[in-house]
Amino acid sequence: MDKWRIVVLFLGLPVFSFAQFSQAERDSIYRLSVIDHQQMKEQLGIIAPNRPGPSGNPDDPNAANTDEKNVRDYQLPDPLILNNGKKVTTSEGWWQKRRPELVRLFEEEMYGRVPENVPTVAWKVEYVKDTVVGNFPVKEKMLSGVVDNAAYPEIEVKIKMLLVTPADANDPVPVVTELGFIRWPFGDPPQRTNSLFSPHEPEWKEQLITQGWGFAIINTSSIQADNGAGLRQGIIGLVNKGEPRKPDQWGVLRAWAWGASRAIDYFERDSDVDTSRLAIEGLSRYGKAALVAMAFEPRFSLGFIGSSGAGGAKILRRNLGEQVENLASTAEYHWFSGNFIQYASTKTVDDLPVDAHELIALCAPRPVFISAGSPFVEGQWIDAKGTFVAAVHASPVYELLGKEGLGAATFPYIGTPIVSGEIAFRQHAGGHSTGPNWSTWIAWASRYWEE
Ligand code: GCU
Repeated sequence: MDKWRIVVLFLGLPVFSFAQFSQAERDSIYRLSVIDHQQMKEQLGIIAPNRPGPSGNPDDPNAANTDEKNVRDYQLPDPLILNNGKKVTTSEGWWQKRRPELVRLFEEEMYGRVPENVPTVAWKVEYVKDTVVGNFPVKEKMLSGVVDNAAYPEIEVKIKMLLVTPADANDPVPVVTELGFIRWPFGDPPQRTNSLFSPHEPEWKEQLITQGWGFAIINTSSIQADNGAGLRQGIIGLVNKGEPRKPDQWGVLRAWAWGASRAIDYFERDSDVDTSRLAIEGLSRYGKAALVAMAFEPRFSLGFIGSSGAGGAKILRRNLGEQVENLASTAEYHWFSGNFIQYASTKTVDDLPVDAHELIALCAPRPVFISAGSPFVEGQWIDAKGTFVAAVHASPVYELLGKEGLGAATFPYIGTPIVSGEIAFRQHAGGHSTGPNWSTWIAWASRYWEE
């Protein structure tokens, strides 16, 4: 628990999903997570304790590496080499052979499989109201996606989503969906951030609305709780009828991404939304989930992956910042399939048949923007350079599909937008936020959405 708090402090962000709980609740979540983690290890036949991950606190004796000079040599799997050792050289080879192999590997070893019998979701509009974002009139819809729980009525799952579109739109608009949490009340009173003398850019919501675009926010915890203690509840628990997961079943990131796909099912019936122009966005753990959603859901045409770090866009084999051992610990293992725990006990990261560049490659040829903050403000836990390296190594797949990929190989100075190709990268000068990258993202996205 202490490690958790230190990491949170180090990133300088409140972890909303955890901060909402009392100390007693946190203790109980911790205890139940430890029990569930242990039962998963028993299913896997692992007796040895997990290797501990490094600390996010730079002052600790076991602090995570933050020095580029100490990054070890490692061997990355080639996204274009098939499991049988042959190289894929055509786009058909990618779509028909290599991509399905990578999907299977990511599902089996890392993010887990979505079970076949996931029940359907019935979307309901809770209310529609005219309100404002900043000074701009919008139409706000609160939605509930009620999951059919006839097979196990003890567990109820109701996905909460907010959809906001410009009030004056005559045609369906593009929508950026954020995985995260909805703050209430929303847009009331107006949150005006721009004034003649304000040095700040307006909030992202306002920037999107003034562009004529809309946004949605999905409350991830309404799909699946952000801890191991909740794995027998939420959508994962509902499908398993309250029983523990099997080692190859979906983790929380995949469950959140599944929820984002169900949101698209709703958008397809809402005439305010242009479903040919949909993006997915998220920060940190939600950035990881946004990348998983983008990789597995082709109806998302653009991605905005904010400071996703380990388990997201960062090369796991790089020993800088957060490591596999942290991800597989009782605090974070729930994001992944049970199988993933092996890589912090009986196996090592070098045994992992995939790495983050291949997750980015699963998005190809769709454009994806990778965002990070400054190490001086955000710290090094998320390993911005590790996400850049992943973007470099995902590029050959984009190129094979006739796109540019990242179009850069040298890690840029802070603030430099690398936006010429379908993989974009920018490290802004601020902290653990997508905030300062929104205007760059919108300019880049309008290339695809306004053409
Ligand atoms: C922790 C965790 C990260 C995660 C972050 C967050 O720091 O180790 O992997 O991205 O929390 O989501 O805030």
